[in-house]
This record gives sequence, C-alpha cells and structure tokens, in this order.
Amino acid sequence: MSIEQLMWVEKYRPKRLDDVVNQREIVEGIKRILSSPAGMPNMLFAGPAGVGKTTVALCIAREVLGEYWRDYTLELNASDERGINMVREKVKMFTRYTSIGSIPFKIVILDEADEMTPEAQTALRRIMEDSANTSRFILICNYISQIIEPIQSRCVIFRFKSLARDDVVNHLANICKLEGIRYEDKALEMIYEFTSGDLRHAINILQAAASHGTVNDASVRSALGISYKARVGEVIRLALEGNFSDARLKMLELTRVHGLSERDFIKFAGEEIMKDASNNKDAGAKSELLRILAEYDYRLVVGAHPDIQLAALLAELARVGKISKMGSSR
Ligand SMILES: Nc1ncnc2c1ncn2[C@@H]1O[C@H](COP(=O)(O)OP(=O)(O)O)[C@@H](O)[C@H]1O
Ligand SMILES: [Mg+2]
Repeated sequence: MSIEQLMWVEKYRPKRLDDVVNQREIVEGIKRILSSPAGMPNMLFAGPAGVGKTTVALCIAREVLGEYWRDYTLELNASDERGINMVREKVKMFTRYTSIGSIPFKIVILDEADEMTPEAQTALRRIMEDSANTSRFILICNYISQIIEPIQSRCVIFRFKSLARDDVVNHLANICKLEGIRYEDKALEMIYEFTSGDLRHAINILQAAASHGTVNDASVRSALGISYKARVGEVIRLALEGNFSDARLKMLELTRVHGLSERDFIKFAGEEIMKDASNNKDAGAKSELLRILAEYDYRLVVGAHPDIQLAALLAELARVGKISKMGSSR
C-alpha cells in the first residue's frame, strides 16, 4: 500500500479548490486570479499548521498546469534543504529548460519560508527575480512577520485561518462515512477540542481512533494517549525477521499517523530489545543492536532526515537479524 492510501490526510487531501474546507475568501480570491492564469503573481501563504496552505498551492498547480502538473511543479522545504544554495541550484536546474510549450510557467512551492534567515531570503528574492520569465513562486509560512519586506511586497498575500469546530467535525464525519466507520459526534468534537483547528492533526487522530473499530469516547482517548511500546516492538520484530517493507510501513504509521517522535521510537525500541536481554540468548547480537540504536539516536539529534534515518535503522536491524538468526529464533 502506498503512503497516499495508508494515510487519510493524503487520501482525503482535496484536489480541487472547490473541495477545500472553508478558507472561502482565499479560494474566491485565487479563483479570480486564475481566471487569467498567465497573469498569476507570486503568492505568499501564511497561517497556522494543518489549515490547507499546501493543499491550496497544489490545487493551483493542478489548475494552471493541467494533467502533467507534477512535471512542472517543484516542491521544496526551506528548512529541509541545506541552505539557500541548495534552493538556488534546485530552482536553477528546474527552470533551465524553458521549452514549456503549452504551460504558461513552472511553479515553485517553497514551504517553511519563514525558517530561512533574512540573508537567505534576500538571496531567494533574487532567485525569484532571475526566474520571473519561467516561474511563479508560492511561498508558505506560519508567520508573515518573519518574511522580509522586499519579498512581501512582491507577492500577493493570503492569510489562512484555523478551521472552525463545524468545519472540522463535518469533515471528520464525512471521512468516517467514506471509510464506513461508525462514529459518535461527541468523539469528533473531542478530537476538535484537542487539535484546535489543525485539520491534519485531527484527521491523524481520527485514523488512529478508527483503528480500534469505532470512533467513540474510548477509542479517541486511547488514540490520544496511545500505548506505543508494543507497536514499536512489533516493528522491531518485523525488521529482525527481514521483513523490511512491512516494518517500514508500520514505522511510518506510528511516526506520521500517530505522531510518535522518531527519538521516542528509538527509546521504545531500546526498551523492547532490553526486555528479553535477560535470557542471555544472542547477548552479542543484542549489544550490537543497542549500539546501532545509539548511533541512529545520535544522528537524529544532530539533525539528519528522520524518515531516512529510521528506514536505514530498520534495514540495519534486518541485516543483524539475518546474521544472528535472532528474527527466526522467535
Ligand atoms: N482547508 C482544508 N480543507 C480540506 N482538507 C484540509 C484543509 N486543511 C488541511 N486539510 C487536511 O490536512 C492535511 C494537511 O493540510 P495542508 O494543506 O498540508 O496544511 P498546511 O496548512 O499545514 O500546509 C491535508 O492533506 C488535508 O487532508
Ligand atoms: Mg504545509
């Protein structure tokens, strides 16, 4: 199963502006702009997490660029990329070939633009000007005050609002209906209270609760304070048995859907491995496993990409499991 199917936040991400929940003024403003797409300006989206900023940007790309929109859209995360030079190189490569024929321009979506230093933003502004003939930018940020004025003044600014109770509850109820899951209104309201207008977080909790069968008071409570340890243990066992792809999917479900932090994942993994360290079987392999965990924990602390690191960790566990036959001894 693909991540897109696995995660309801992706599965139910609107593909058309008309399907976006609320944000009506923004959607109407953008539709007016797109009535003559060639005149699309650079845009700056600001607002809290999980309210539709990236979703709207992707809808615009679909609308303006048509069927092959993915080929002409570059999605970057300013805080992921190592500095402005990386952004510059990527944009340069992306905009190099201008034989774009049927499309008016390419679109660069730059998320977390407010994570960039003012110096980097100045460089970004220059990049935007240099590629004005070939590209339009959609910059996304949480706080508009963190964006330098020369960029603000070159963009049309849209301020996204956090979503209201009814918006969130109705959307969650719709998803339950589409998934054929029973739910109680009270439970959906509890999810809203906990996530205060962040629809991504709300959908993730809904999915976690639904994995208990019904979305009710008990399953939502348990989704909110889920017991992670057993699930992490399951991932580790799968990896040691050499079942890397299942282990990876379950790991992503824990970190992305349930919101378990990567470092907590490693902490629980260590506890699970220690748990049966007392029986002394494969003591050498176990200390090797703990050494590996410590190494990956360190890599996360120094800022390596978490998904990649955890996947590499599981691959390494699979390797050790194979050599020591730990996996098959269970
Ligand atoms: N306004 C919205 N309408 C419909 N779905 C939304 C909306 N806002 C958030 N979502 C859901 O939450 C997920 C994350 O939304 P996203 O647009 O990436 O948020 P952000 O504002 O952080 O960029 C989407 O995949 C979608 O499932
Ligand atoms: Mg986003």
